[in-house]
Amino acid sequence: MSTIKVTREAPIATVQLDRPAVLNALSEELMDELVASLETLDADAEIRCIVLTGNDKAFAAGADIKKSFVDATPVSMLEEDLTTRWERVRKIRKPIIAAVSGYCLGGGCELAMTCDIIVASETAQFGQPEVNLGIIPGAGGTQRLTRAVGKYRAMEIILTGRRVQADEAKAIGLVAQVYPAASWLEDAKALARTIAEKPPIAVRLATEAIDLAQSSTLDAGLEFERKAFYLLFSTEDKKEGVDAFMNKRKAVFKGK
Ligand code: COA
Repeated sequence: MSTIKVTREAPIATVQLDRPAVLNALSEELMDELVASLETLDADAEIRCIVLTGNDKAFAAGADIKKSFVDATPVSMLEEDLTTRWERVRKIRKPIIAAVSGYCLGGGCELAMTCDIIVASETAQFGQPEVNLGIIPGAGGTQRLTRAVGKYRAMEIILTGRRVQADEAKAIGLVAQVYPAASWLEDAKALARTIAEKPPIAVRLATEAIDLAQSSTLDAGLEFERKAFYLLFSTEDKKEGVDAFMNKRKAVFKGK
């Protein structure tokens, strides 16, 4: 049975986590299907932006505690290497918007943080509750949350395992926008369509440059940015964008 639903509405696509009975707990099977569907969309020339979502009640309530943790040993964890799937999500080149409603906990929060933008319904609740199970986040939570909100807030959130409501998540920089509960997914798709209209090569290089700001030194990031900026002057989309500005018309970008 599929654990993922993919809807193509070119130039955007929506990938929905679909294990509602267990609040979209991230089983191995789900993560494999998720990575495969994202990699397929990444190779699809008609798709320019991806929305990753769950349902009203849950984006995802974390790793599947029943399937993955009950009898796990260090060796079985090493052999399954479940968390490497999160790194494959990070390598998708098209922008991914995590559209979060309801629970976004543990591995769910780490999955959202692996995406490029997080937007939320006003009902969203984020958290890294692993400490309550006697463990710690294992798919990037200690690193990405700290880079997103700073050491002292990340420390308090991870050491208490408490929930962070949508408004607080926005205030601390984890979430870009909070949308009404009645329209959150449509609002997230509208954001995806806006990004999909932008020049894809510029979007890709901007994404890579911003990611470098998280993982590299300022000098290395500035060097990459400068080279990427120069490179874009060779694209047809740069000519189109400047020409559209000069002639007071709307630009149509082709990704060339
Ligand atoms: N793994 C496996 N199953 C999970 C799950 C998870 N991470 N989170 C929820 N479920 C299951 C529940 O066991 C329950 O199944 P059941 O009906 O067979 O008993 C079902 O999803 C609904 O969850 P329930 O706890 O009844 O819903 P709730 O609204 O009362 O509480 C949560 C929701 C998210 C607060 C609660 O389910 C929870 O704390 N989940 C674990 C969160 C967590 O620790 N995540 C980090 C894992 S590393």
